[in-house]
Amino acid sequence: MKARIALLPGDGIGPEVCAEARRLLELVAAEGGHAFTLEEGQIGGCAIDATGDPLPAATVALCERSDAVLLGAVGGPKWSDPDAPVRPEQGLLRLRAQLGVFANLRPVAPHPAAIRLAPLRSRLLRGVDILFVRELTGGSYFGARRREADAAVDETRYSVAEIERVTRVAARLARQRRRRLTHVDKANVLETSRLWRSTVNRVMREEFPDIELEHVLVDAMAMHLLTRPARFDVVLTENLFGDILTDEASVLAGSMGLLPSASLGAGRVGLYEPIHGSAPDIAGRGIANPYATLLSVALLLRHSLGLTAEAERVERAVGAALDAGVLTADLSRRGAVSTRKAGEAVLDHYRHLARQAGR
Ligand code: NAD
Ligand code: IPM
Ligand code: MN
Repeated sequence: MKARIALLPGDGIGPEVCAEARRLLELVAAEGGHAFTLEEGQIGGCAIDATGDPLPAATVALCERSDAVLLGAVGGPKWSDPDAPVRPEQGLLRLRAQLGVFANLRPVAPHPAAIRLAPLRSRLLRGVDILFVRELTGGSYFGARRREADAAVDETRYSVAEIERVTRVAARLARQRRRRLTHVDKANVLETSRLWRSTVNRVMREEFPDIELEHVLVDAMAMHLLTRPARFDVVLTENLFGDILTDEASVLAGSMGLLPSASLGAGRVGLYEPIHGSAPDIAGRGIANPYATLLSVALLLRHSLGLTAEAERVERAVGAALDAGVLTADLSRRGAVSTRKAGEAVLDHYRHLARQAGR
């Protein structure tokens, strides 16, 4: 098949992990006889330095003429002055809004090899298979903001329509899985959460009566995630809670460097990114874990290009690299490999699996 893919490496470790993703996409194309056009664009701090704008018009145009967008990470200390007029993260938020990708899928299913390395007890992690569906284009991330003389305001606003559409995405995914939906909110305090709760109740009752629904308060969820993670299937929540809970959930998987994400909307173009950031503390050393980005490539192949076999092969190749003990420093203290070596291991396993399937 033919596909145009936009690569937005961004800042910090973004370019380091995206280099491995590019190699993987080139291999997937070569092995499968596909024609992928890979074009790079600027976003975040590097775009501010080059143009003054964290999301230049050329990058928006590139993404809009592509079938899918793969992003590394944006941000870093250079652009983090709290009084700076413009920030790298604004570029990412504008891109998500521009592409209309309101549903952010963040799967968390610890690989057996990573379970041994995770900081939590193995018995808690067995059977964990959670799909977070985080609302991505609403709430406090996109509300009105203002600074007053000695105060500041961030508005949190959700419309019924915004809640309905992401609830439907989560419920449809639950139908393909274990048919359980956990909605997370703070309905004991927040008015937006009470609107979420009544809207989710109505949509589920009217359209998805076959899915088991529960509501959990976000503070309790932060605890349940670490004490009994195996009981959750699909977890639906608003933008800010989803951001926080998925970083917490990365502890279940063993590392931030292992969690991919897919951001989907009603439109054609999907946005794919690891959930981690630009990791300024390790950037420039070639030691970042590329697996979250390579697993994001798998989600891109599946959700935007419909290449299911290739997507599964990428996931198996990352699993095989983990099984073989090819671990970056976030997962291993002794014998840690570089970003490049980890990427290479995945490519080798992919090539092997593709040729096995072709035989
Ligand atoms: P971070 O996710 O960048 O890093 C948190 C910790 O996890 C660090 O110790 C880092 O070294 C480690 N880590 C993250 N990814 C890793 C990987 N692939 N391999 C090995 N270790 C990894 O979060 P932060 O330090 O709070 O944020 C840094 C910057 O990144 C901020 O400017 C933030 O706004 C930005 N950020 C961007 C995105 C994005 O572009 N999607 C996501 C989160 C944070
Ligand atoms: C993420 C990041 C972003 C978010 C930041 C960089 C704006 O933390 O993708 O999880 O909060 O959504
Ligand atoms: Mn985050």
